[in-house]
Amino acid sequence: MKNSFGNAINISLFGESHGAGVGVLIDGISPGIKVDEDFIAHQLTLRRPSESISTSRREPDEYVIQSGVYNGYTTGAPLCIFIPNTDTRSRDYTPDLPRPSHADFTAREKYHGFEDYRGGGHFSGRLTAALVAAGAIVIPALREKGIYIGTYIKEIGQIILGAEDHTAENLLAIAESKYGLTDPHSIDWMHQVIEHARERTDSVGGVLETAIVGLPAGLGEPWFDGVESQIARAVFGIPAVKSVAFGAERINVMRGSEANDEFAIKDGKIVTETNHSGGVQGGITNGMPVVFRTAIKPTPSIARYQKTVNMATLEETELNIKGRHDPCIVPRARIVVDSVAALVVADMLTVRYGSDALSEKTKK
Ligand SMILES: Cc1cc2nc3c(=O)[nH]c(=O)nc-3n(C[C@H](O)[C@H](O)[C@H](O)COP(=O)(O)O)c2cc1C
Repeated sequence: MKNSFGNAINISLFGESHGAGVGVLIDGISPGIKVDEDFIAHQLTLRRPSESISTSRREPDEYVIQSGVYNGYTTGAPLCIFIPNTDTRSRDYTPDLPRPSHADFTAREKYHGFEDYRGGGHFSGRLTAALVAAGAIVIPALREKGIYIGTYIKEIGQIILGAEDHTAENLLAIAESKYGLTDPHSIDWMHQVIEHARERTDSVGGVLETAIVGLPAGLGEPWFDGVESQIARAVFGIPAVKSVAFGAERINVMRGSEANDEFAIKDGKIVTETNHSGGVQGGITNGMPVVFRTAIKPTPSIARYQKTVNMATLEETELNIKGRHDPCIVPRARIVVDSVAALVVADMLTVRYGSDALSEKTKK
């Protein structure tokens, strides 16, 4: 029943949605990483629900670094970050009626009713705040080494950014038939799709695409601890993630002559002319950007009558979910994927180059 990942750097998550708070323990981190508290706060604002398209819950995410940092630098000792909970409304949750497609039923089966079910308990998206804070410790150190990670929203519902078949007419046809949107001049389709779902007490999912640039060739292990395996394992830990895919979309329908990434020399370095492999071959980085897509399901908690069961009496019943929920998780998950990817990269660098891999300065 572990809640951790990582080989050289171990990331452990703890906390519950409506308990004292959520947090992360980072064990094995390099000493001498400059800790930028403003950057941590900034990253947390990117995950926080804020606009009309998000939940009305207020989550200020005031964090406390409880250990592992001294005089503004990591010490190399276990680094613990705690984020207290402030805005919780436990009365919105019914212990015996599991929300369809949330983790209430599976948690009950595993923890036999001892689980803290309030607000999804330990399975809540709230714990991702701790992952974002942890990511914010290593992201500046990675940037110092020329490694940059970026995630953008590629799809919301059926609206795909930059899709080839998304001519204005095509986009309008999808928007009209699926979402009832009729404004052909609107540029902010994705926002409207989320708003459309919110107004109907429904939810939508989407796809994020991430690129990690500046990685050296040679990171990762063959077979089971490859770069794809390690990233996928950690990203699948993020609640609501249902698929992670690397490299070119539909590479399976390409021919070898299209899919193969041919080699070339650029600025004295070995590169590939295309990057259909998504920067990984044999589980090991080839020095090209590592590219992957993460599919996020629609938010399970929707304020509609849905069929459920009473787990105590074993009777079928209905549930109309109360509480405040995002109509779409994708915009908030963006920074979580970035952060988790950064933690995996930090771990892989530490495996390959040792415990000083991320140190920004050496103090004797
Ligand atoms: C940032 C973030 C916020 C989330 N917020 C909600 C929410 O408000 N309501 C909800 O039902 N699920 C929310 N989720 C998703 C659930 O936590 C998730 O669907 C649930 O734990 C079951 O896990 P699974 O979908 O991975 O199977 C959120 C997920 C993330 C990453």
